[in-house]
Amino acid sequence: MSLFKAHYNLEKHSVGFVVAIILAASVGGVVEILPLFTIDETVETVPDMRVYTPLELAGRNIYIREGCYACHSQMIRTLRDEVERYGPYSLAAESQYDHPMLWGSKRTGPDIARLGGKYSDDWHVAHLINPRDVVPSSIMPAYPWLADAPLPVSDLGAHLAAQSRLGVPYTAEMIANAPRDALAQTRPDSDGAEGLIARYGEATTLRPFSGADRLTEMDALVAYLQVLGQLTQAPYASGAAP
Ligand code: HEC
Repeated sequence: MSLFKAHYNLEKHSVGFVVAIILAASVGGVVEILPLFTIDETVETVPDMRVYTPLELAGRNIYIREGCYACHSQMIRTLRDEVERYGPYSLAAESQYDHPMLWGSKRTGPDIARLGGKYSDDWHVAHLINPRDVVPSSIMPAYPWLADAPLPVSDLGAHLAAQSRLGVPYTAEMIANAPRDALAQTRPDSDGAEGLIARYGEATTLRPFSGADRLTEMDALVAYLQVLGQLTQAPYASGAAP
């Protein structure tokens, strides 16, 4: 009996046919579900992963507010062309403190998951004020007002508290000192600098990101852009390359 004949006969037995369909469909289900049982081994832990400082979190909020994610992804896939262009592929652990995550899939501009340290702060400020000044063919919108808009810091504690409810390990001390820490990050010589380092670690970058006298939204956004891909060194150490 040919295969077609067998199938022809099966089609005439409704109950048998239903059982066959369920069997065939469950193969797909098993293939998708089984790997989830090994998720604990699949998602690596990275001990040096740090949280965003209040200033970086404020910058992240501005990034979301301005819709930057509509043109920029933050997820380098394990494909050779991506790794060669952008750097080590993204690890799951790198976005464990991202609420909401900003992986994205639309790339009108380049992926920026490994942006931190690629350009100077001055480059970012000039680029955000008018992208055409530094990249003549750029189609990116200009965001000049960020350089003038003072950064509101009084509500930063509430932003940290909200993140901590979502599982980000911010301590009560970090939440209480959020406005002070945001200011201190742009004032390396100030009294608050020591406390900021004590709370967020030696790897925290302290400098006047936009160079302005007062704290602006530009400071926060540039601080955030400069920390992208720098919250842990694990992707570089493990050589997450093809
Ligand atoms: C309409 C799409 C669009 C939006 C919205 C957009 N960008 Fe861009 N971005 C681009 C394009 C296109 C480029 C590449 C040309 C260039 O460098 O200007 C780019 C480049 C960049 C670069 C340089 C990346 C690199 O590796 O060279 C940075 C940083 C950047 N954008 C940040 C931002 C930020 C921050 C925002 C939100 C405030 C934003 N972009 C919003 C389209 C966009």
